[in-house]
Amino acid sequence: MKKVVAIMLALVLVLALAACGGKDDGKKTVGVLIYKFDDAFMTTYRNALKEILEEKGYEVTFQDGNNDQAKQNEQINNYITQGVDALIINPVMTSAADQIVSTVKNAGIPTVLINREPTAEQMSAYDKLVYVGCDAAQSGTFQGELILDTPNQGDINGDGKISYIMIQGDPENIDAQLRTEYSVKALTDAGKTVEQLDLQRGDWDREKGQTICANDLAQYGDQIEVVFCNNDDMAIGALQSIQAAGRKVNEDIYLVGVDALEAALNEVANGNMTGTVLNDAVGQATAAVEQMEKLLDGATYKAGEQSVYVPYVKVTPDNVKDFQ
Ligand code: GAL
Repeated sequence: MKKVVAIMLALVLVLALAACGGKDDGKKTVGVLIYKFDDAFMTTYRNALKEILEEKGYEVTFQDGNNDQAKQNEQINNYITQGVDALIINPVMTSAADQIVSTVKNAGIPTVLINREPTAEQMSAYDKLVYVGCDAAQSGTFQGELILDTPNQGDINGDGKISYIMIQGDPENIDAQLRTEYSVKALTDAGKTVEQLDLQRGDWDREKGQTICANDLAQYGDQIEVVFCNNDDMAIGALQSIQAAGRKVNEDIYLVGVDALEAALNEVANGNMTGTVLNDAVGQATAAVEQMEKLLDGATYKAGEQSVYVPYVKVTPDNVKDFQ
């Protein structure tokens, strides 16, 4: 009889351990890979992921890809060797998606891609993979609409055209491509004539935004009516140059960004930025964890249905308080 009890106890123990994924402390492990820690928006996003995952009882670790795809590939392999239960990956380069997808597929690890959207075709290779992000075109459209909502619809000097400079993120990234295209498209769709004075890549970086804007202000001066920045960090940099040049936002120049970083929200409230667009880090982190849990529960995704979008929101002086 004692023997039977002992065997049963042992069985219960084995089952309990199995239910916990074999981890002694019962916590499921999640590896999160960020393209680079030194990115203002991705820092907010990373903090949100950490809070949500820890709150839910996951054991989570983060890796900094340092903007180096080869390094991130190694980090993915290390996580696979460690046997993590799930991966959340912010790819360094979307062009590397094929390789990332085939690596996680071969390891059979449920994977959520975030922030840098690969093509539907690239994702279709693996059914335990999903992308969580936003519709980048929408944020561009909203930026254009912010300009159309100004009293002179962006044509400050009344010459019949909107003259702008475009400070672009990393052009390899679809967010940069679509924001650049759709911000201007919103103007032309509304029947406006536009003039692009300059377009330069600022790689999402505040200092680069500042330098590009300073050079353009020196070269084009009062001709610049609108400064489009693909993100807020570059817009904050641009604002420093605008102020240094003695220009005044919303009076003799317009300035828009994307992300709704805290610093940008303050500048929108103070009238030093025309507006921004909320890139909802908490909403995306929440959705990413939700999708990860579905995958852990055994969900699979059909080709063409592997992208989950969180909406962008326009932020102006009228509603900025709701986001601060
Ligand atoms: C964008 C965001 C940028 C930057 C980029 C990184 O969505 O607006 O600020 O973080 O992602 O891929």
